[in-house]
This record gives sequence, structure tokens and C-alpha cells, in this order.
Amino acid sequence: MVSRVIPVETFDLVIFGGTGDLARRKILPGLFRRFCAGQMEDGARIIGAARSDLDTAAYREMVREAVIEFGRGGTCDIGTMQGFLDTLHYVRVDARGEQGWQSLADMMLPDRVRAFYFSVGPGLFGDLAKRLHQYGMADASCRIVVEKPFGRDLQSARDLNAVLAQHFDETQIYRIDHYLGKETVQNLMVVRFGNMLFEPLWNSQYVDHIQITVAETVGVGGRGEYYDRSGAMRDMLQNHLMQLLCLIAMEPPAKFDPDAVRDEKLKVIRALGHIAPEEIVRGQYMKDGENGSYLEDANNPRSTTESFVALKAHISNWRWAGTPFYLRTGKRLKARTSEIAVVFKDAPHSIFGAKAGRHRNILTIRLQPNEGMELGVTIKEPGPGGMRLLDVPLDMSFAEALGEDSAEIPDAYERLIMDVIRGNQTLFMRGDEVEAAWKWTDPIIAAWEDRGDQPIPYETGSSGPDDALMLMHRDGRRWREIMI
Ligand code: BG6
Repeated sequence: MVSRVIPVETFDLVIFGGTGDLARRKILPGLFRRFCAGQMEDGARIIGAARSDLDTAAYREMVREAVIEFGRGGTCDIGTMQGFLDTLHYVRVDARGEQGWQSLADMMLPDRVRAFYFSVGPGLFGDLAKRLHQYGMADASCRIVVEKPFGRDLQSARDLNAVLAQHFDETQIYRIDHYLGKETVQNLMVVRFGNMLFEPLWNSQYVDHIQITVAETVGVGGRGEYYDRSGAMRDMLQNHLMQLLCLIAMEPPAKFDPDAVRDEKLKVIRALGHIAPEEIVRGQYMKDGENGSYLEDANNPRSTTESFVALKAHISNWRWAGTPFYLRTGKRLKARTSEIAVVFKDAPHSIFGAKAGRHRNILTIRLQPNEGMELGVTIKEPGPGGMRLLDVPLDMSFAEALGEDSAEIPDAYERLIMDVIRGNQTLFMRGDEVEAAWKWTDPIIAAWEDRGDQPIPYETGSSGPDDALMLMHRDGRRWREIMI
């Protein structure tokens, strides 16, 4: 199978924060891979803009090192690397002052896609937006890309939306949630809406519950200061897990276009019900040998921020009333794995008798690692000796199904940046979606703050606090094992 790569229009992409961590780890290595794949037309330019005192030659060297360190696989020869480096330029710009802006404006070329990536803290969004206009760089067709965190509550998200709306139309704003760029996440929509098999069963009549797990093995590392102000709820659940929830729960959009999809996602968020205190568990990882505890990593001995959160959500609509959605995410857990499991109800009557046991169909959508899907079906255990039942997986690993092509599956950032250039907003969050998500999480956070809840310590390498297991046990259900 040979994947088709369609080059995007010639573009100028300016990366504010072009020397920062995200640019070095994700954005630039992602662009490099798209360059290698032949997706960037001749003449496309990437312009790093930051405060560091560099020139273009030094910037190219920095990017070369970043690509070698963080690029996945090295399918490029030296000539290709040089070709990519030649697309790079650097301008020293002060977001809050006037330095560099005129030079940047002088570099802009007409008749090409123009995109500005705000890979900086949200505190600078307003300054950048204002100066892009002041220096005549932001016309009605340019695009801006903004990163999470998009606010830390409803009010701050509203403020950010208002600042951006002063300068740009919503159709120009690309709010990134990199989970939406993951291959399996998009496949989720195709599996649901491209097959007749699943959709008729996709409701509370047939689905017992849905579990979404995003488990990480890393701690908060060098990001302690940022993380301690956010916690798992703001850092992961309010955005990544809620986006997954939306895609799994939404009604079929009339077409695969940005507003049709985002309208349906928004309806899911707005239908999310209240969460009772016993439906949420927060945890904090403990010290483990050489690895510090969360409190040490955050450098805040009295921190009440959670590095783990699990909750039971309810969607109050006709499709889902009565089917709970269990969500959990945390750091320093047993394995790095993300999956969605749709657990179907038991067959209404077992003709095989009680001894055959309880068997359930589970559709598992694996986001990472080993992207793929698995459908558990019940069969007869082979051989004589009566009717014993067994669950076996119908397994579709993308790597196996697609063979060598799976190595070419673009990483989330690669795909999303190319979508910005193509002008396709389907996989980006709309302003009202982000606000609705905060509107749901704000009272949950406020409630635990008012109660003075303390996060429960959990061991590194575990599945989180035992109370999270109880969250499901109480309902006669259990989490799937966190494993690769
Ligand atoms: C980021 C969070 O958005 O996603 C991080 O800020 C987290 O805390 C990361 O580690 C996880 O992304 P991925 O793609 O590695 O699952």
C-alpha cells in the first residue's frame, strides 16, 4: 500500500517562540518529516521568531540538532536535511516591544498562505495579535495557531477569546489540541460513521459503559511550576480527554466539515451533567527510589494539586442517559498507554447456563502505543468437554494492517500544521467549545477547593489510588488493566 502525499500550497509559517521547547520537540521535527514526505512545495518558508540573540545560520544549526534529537526515524539523507534547513529563517522579535517587527514585516511575501504559530504563553497572545495588525502582516486570509492551555477557567478563556476576536475572525483561529491530530482519534470517526456495524449499537441500550484512560509513566519533571497551577484536571482532562469523550459520544454530523463536527461536539459538552463528590478521585504520586514525589517535583511541599484524576461522567441526552463514562488520567502510572474502551452490555439471556460465565463484547480503541482497534468476541473454547466460552480479540493493529506504511503515519503535530496550511479547521477547537468545557470543569474544581479535598497519595508504577478502583467497583464494574 502506498500512501499518497498531496503537497500543500506554498506558505510562510512564522513560529513565535521558535526557539522554545515545543518548537524544538514537536513543531520543527514535525515540519521536517512533512518536508521529507514531499509535502512542502518549493519556496515554502519557516520563520523562527523569538527573543534569543541568534541569526539565521545559528537558528538553522539549533533546528538541525533538534530534528536529530527529537525527529522520529531518520529517513532523510544529508541533502534532504540541507534542503529543509534552507527553508528556515530567523528574526529576533520582542513580543512586548517594537524590536524586530519591521524586519519581520519586510520579509512577508504576497500570494501565499501566511500562518502565525503562537508557541508562547497565553499572556502574549494579545501583544502578538496587536502587533501583527499594527505592522500590516495580518490580512483577512492569514491564520493564527494557538496552543493550550487556553485559559485556566471559563473567565480567562473568555478573555483570551475576546482578545483574539478583536483582531481575527474565528475562521482564522486554530486552537490546537494535539490529541485531535492522533491517527486513531480521527479513525474513531471513520469507524463510527463509515461502518454500518457499530452505529446501531452505539447507545445506552447496548453500551454498558465507556472507559477512557490516558496513562503516562513520566512525572511532571521540569514543568513543575506550570503543572502545579494546573493539575491533571486542567492539563489533560478539560481538553484531551474531553475531546475524546466528544468524538465517542457525539451524534453523526451531517458532513465532515469543521462547523458540522464542532457543533456536535459542543452539544455533548453542554449535555454533561453534574458530578457528585464521590464520583471523582484525585491523587498525587509518591516518592519512588531516585524519583522524587509530586511534592518534590512541584517544589511545593503543601501542594494540593492532583497528578491523577478519575471521574464518572454522565451525558444527559437520549442516546446516553444511563451509560456512564469513566475517565482517568495520571502521571507516573504503570505504563504509557491511552485507550478508549466501549463495553457492551451482557447478552439478555445466556442459553449456555451460569457455568459458562459472563462474557462481554468490548471494543478497544488504542491511541498509543500500538495504535489500533480490538473487538472482543465470545467463542466456544475449542475441544471436547462441554460448552465453555472464551473471549478472543478480533485485533486490528494499524502497524500490521498497513505494513510499512504505518511508519509513515504522521505524528499529531505534523498533521495539524498541514491542516492549518490547508485551511481545514475540523480538528481544531472552536472558541465556544473551549468555553463550554471550562464551564463544566469550573464547578467541579471549585467544589473540591471549597471542600478542601486533599489528593490521595499513590505509588509510582501503580494504577493510581485504590479509591479510583472503587469508583468502578461500587458500580459492579472494573477498569481495564493499564498495560502496553
Ligand atoms: C500535554 C500535557 O498536553 O500532553 C502533558 O500538557 C502531557 O502534561 C502530554 O504529558 C501528553 O501527550 P502525549 O501525546 O504524549 O500523550
